[in-house]
Amino acid sequence: MSRSAHPAGPRHADVLPEGHYSAPPADLNTLDPKVWAQTVTRDEDGVLTVGGITATQLAEQHGTPAYVVDEADFRARARAWRSAFGTDADVFYAGKAFLSRAVVRWLHEEGLNLDVCSGGELATALSAGMPADRIAFHGNNKSTEEITRAIESGVGRIVLDSFQEIVRVAHIAQSLGKRQRVQIRITVGVEAHTHEFIATAHEDQKFGIPLAGGQAAEAVRRALKLDGIELIGIHSHIGSQIFDMSGFEVAAHRVVGLLKDVRDEHGVELPEIDLGGGLGIAYTSDDDPREPHEIAKALTEIVTRECEAAKLRTPRISVEPGRAIVGPTAFTLYEVGTIKPLDGLRTYVSVDGGMSDNIRTALYDAEYTVALVSRTSDAAPMLARVVGKHCESGDIVVKDAFLPADLAPGDLIAVPATGAYCRSMASNYNHVLRPPVVAVHDGESRVIVRRETEEDLLRLDVG
Ligand code: LLP
Repeated sequence: MSRSAHPAGPRHADVLPEGHYSAPPADLNTLDPKVWAQTVTRDEDGVLTVGGITATQLAEQHGTPAYVVDEADFRARARAWRSAFGTDADVFYAGKAFLSRAVVRWLHEEGLNLDVCSGGELATALSAGMPADRIAFHGNNKSTEEITRAIESGVGRIVLDSFQEIVRVAHIAQSLGKRQRVQIRITVGVEAHTHEFIATAHEDQKFGIPLAGGQAAEAVRRALKLDGIELIGIHSHIGSQIFDMSGFEVAAHRVVGLLKDVRDEHGVELPEIDLGGGLGIAYTSDDDPREPHEIAKALTEIVTRECEAAKLRTPRISVEPGRAIVGPTAFTLYEVGTIKPLDGLRTYVSVDGGMSDNIRTALYDAEYTVALVSRTSDAAPMLARVVGKHCESGDIVVKDAFLPADLAPGDLIAVPATGAYCRSMASNYNHVLRPPVVAVHDGESRVIVRRETEEDLLRLDVG
C-alpha cells in the first residue's frame, strides 16, 4: 500500500504527542543487538533471519502470532551464567519466566539447576528428566499435595515462606520418613527500584519472613528444632528487572548479618545463601543491563567481604535468574491486520495477537520496541501504537514506537525481548488461542510448545 493511502500522522519531534519514546531512530531497519536475540540479522532481501531461518518462512510454516526462541542464544546465556559463577556457586533458572520440556533439557545439558514454584512447573521439570536434586521448590502457599510430591520426588531444596510452612513441610517430610533440605526466604527490607508489582524485598508484601522485629531469627529457631527438615540456608529475592546492584549489596549484607546471628545464638553456620533473581534486561535500546560475569563478581565479592568481617565461612551462593536468561532470546512474530492513523495523535497498528500473548504492557506499563521484519523500508518513521485484537482498549503490545509509514496489512512485525513472562503469563482472554513457541537452531525450526486449538479450549468446557 502506498504511503499516501496511509497518512502517517505527525512525524517531527516538535509535534509528537506525549508518550514513552525518544526521537525516531536514524534508521528503522537496524535491529539493535541489545534487544534482539543473538543470531538475528537481516538477509540480503532485508528479511529478518534468526537461527538461519527467515521471518517469512517462520510465518509460513508456523503461522502468526508465534513466539520464536533462538536456541543457541538461550544456551549461550545459560552457559554464561554458569561459567560466571563457576563451580563454587549454583545457578537455578527461574522456570516461571518460561518453562517447557525443551527448555528443561537445554538447562540440564548446560549444567544449570531449576527453580519451580508450582506442581505444574515441577511436573514439567521431572517429565523432561531434570534430576530432582537439582530442583528448588518455591511458593508462598504450596499445597499439601505439592509439598508431598516435591519431597517424594526428592527435590534438592524447598524454600520455606512462612511460619506455617516450616511446620507443614517438617511434618509431611517426617510422615514420609524423610528429612527435607530447606532454606528460609526472608525479606530484608530493601526497596528495589522497579515496578511495585515486581518488587519483593520491602516488608509490606506477601513473600518471605521479615528480618525486621526478629521474625526471621525466630523462624530459624523453630526450623532448627524440627526433625523433618534440615535448614541449609537463607534465601532473599529482592524483585525483578533491576539494574542497580546496590539493592543486592544491602540484601547480601543483611542475609550475612542473619547468618552471623544464627552462628552466635545456635553455634551453627548455615552453609548456603540464595540471592534470588531479578537482573534486568534491555527491552529498548535505552536499557543497559549488566553482564553475568559482572554480576557474579559483584555478588561474590560482597558475600566474601561480609563473611570475612563476620568471621564466617563463606557460604555457597546460589542465584535464580529467569528473565536475564530467556528474555532476550525470543521475539513475538505478528502479522499486521489493520492500520488506523489518528490525526495529531498516532497510528494504531492492529496485530493478530495482543494482551493474551503479552500482558506485561498492560500490567506493568512495560516498554517494548517493534520492527518491520518481512522487508526493509525507506519510508519516513511514523509514531505507532501496536495493539491486539482483544475487546479492550488497554490491549496494547507496544505503547509508542516508530514503524515505517508505508506499513501495510500483511506485513510481518516483531516485538523483541518477549522470552520471559509472555508465554508463561499468556491467557485465553476472548477465547483467543495461545501462540506456539518455535525454537530455531542451525537453519531448522521446531515447535516446542504447539499452538492452542479450538479443540483444546472445548476439551476443558465440559458443561
Ligand atoms: N526467584 C524468585 C524467588 C522469584 O520470585 C523470581 C521471580 C525469580 C527468581 C526470577 O526473577 P527474574 O530473574 O526472572 O526477574 N511477571 C513479572 C515478573 C515476576 C517475577 C516473579 N518472581 C514480569 O513480567 O516482569
